[in-house]
Amino acid sequence: MITSGAAATVELRSVQAPARLTGRIAVPGDKSISHRAILLNAIATGSAGVTGAGLGADCRASIASVESLGATVQRRWPDGSLSPALAVPDSVVGNGAVHRAADLVIEGAGGAGLREPEEVLDAANSGTTARFLSGILAGQPFFSVLTGDASLRRRPMGRVIEPLIAMGARIVGRDDNRCLPIALSPAQLRAIEYELPVASAQLKSCLLLAGLQATGATVLHEPAASRDHTERLLRAQGASLRVEGRHLTLAGDAALAAVDVAVPGDLSSAAFWLVAALLHPQASVTIERVGINPGRTGLLDVLTEMGGRLTLTNRRQAGGEPVADITAESSRLRGVRVGGELIPRLLDEVPILALAAALAEGTTTIHDAAELRVKESDRLAAVAGELTTLGGQVEELPDGLVIRGTPSLAGGEAEAHGDHRLAMMACIAGLVSAGPVLVGGAETVEVSYPGFWHDLEHLAPGAARVL
Ligand code: S3P
Repeated sequence: MITSGAAATVELRSVQAPARLTGRIAVPGDKSISHRAILLNAIATGSAGVTGAGLGADCRASIASVESLGATVQRRWPDGSLSPALAVPDSVVGNGAVHRAADLVIEGAGGAGLREPEEVLDAANSGTTARFLSGILAGQPFFSVLTGDASLRRRPMGRVIEPLIAMGARIVGRDDNRCLPIALSPAQLRAIEYELPVASAQLKSCLLLAGLQATGATVLHEPAASRDHTERLLRAQGASLRVEGRHLTLAGDAALAAVDVAVPGDLSSAAFWLVAALLHPQASVTIERVGINPGRTGLLDVLTEMGGRLTLTNRRQAGGEPVADITAESSRLRGVRVGGELIPRLLDEVPILALAAALAEGTTTIHDAAELRVKESDRLAAVAGELTTLGGQVEELPDGLVIRGTPSLAGGEAEAHGDHRLAMMACIAGLVSAGPVLVGGAETVEVSYPGFWHDLEHLAPGAARVL
């Protein structure tokens, strides 16, 4: 097992290949959209109903933060009763799926109604929470401090701090303004025109949230298209936002109105089961009501090009986003080349794509993905290391991976490196390897996928056990 200093193994699970992998499931509400529904409604005026929100640990960090800032987030249970969103009644504690799809009622504080938090705000493991909050807090008339867990404190914040300071924000941060914790003092923001150095939806969203509070029109240019959930929601909330290709113009001094959001299932969570089903010889899995925003579907395009049998049915719109049911069936995959503008469209899916490539015929190369080195772990190093341990042939490049497909993986011990997507990739490897895979740090799946083990048990009874 490869262990990283910051990511000690807490929970060890063993996963082995089942005879078959079949069934229909609904994955948790989309993490990106859930964050936005919480954060953007918290700074809006009025009350919003959010249905189907995924409340993994990341989104719970967003709820805790907006509550410290004066918004209220309640959970509506199926019997219609309301309780504070983060308090789970005793009757449902211990049900891993309880945070899979939550209905929330959010009372926005209004942009001008936020209050100074008494405590340090803690974004925990969530880059989205940290980057979005930075944009919200930068223009407030009060002091705040923002931090995160060990992994998040290592991730780059300079990319948001630098343009925010150019807008007039008063921010100081650790490591010469590059890392959390950061402290933000009262400031009046002015709009800037800015060329984003990376195609990052978190950076783009941070600057849009700051731009709402600035005087003048904020103009952003993206190097490649990143997911546009923020733009969709801001428009629905009444912001004046013009998008022409990769150029965005947002009017400042804007007030948002609370808006209801129906959150679709998370394609980034569905991805694990889709790849599992393509790789397993006796498999057919359907994931219901998955978000298929074009900014997120790069993996579906690549798996189809690899020969994967994927079928999208029941296509419709839900909450301003396109959704569909997706079925994956046992397939023979072949290697492909992946890079360029495709990368932001499958950014979070590279770990599971690498597993698919490790069992495909031929070689897969992934380029232009250096951004993966600053995610919850260095995902290029971690994926290469763990897949190699399990019997794969993977070479690390500065900006990607070269994966030579083999007919089977042996199995063995894999470590999550404190990274939820690594834990799930290792678990899926167990479902399709000759021998069992021991997954160290299995508890990290909770960051994005509450109910992961519950769904695994449904699709492959008895395949996983806690050691
Ligand atoms: C996210 C954007 C992506 C992604 C992250 C969630 C978002 O990061 O990796 O998991 O919700 O905006 P980038 O900021 O690199 O696009």
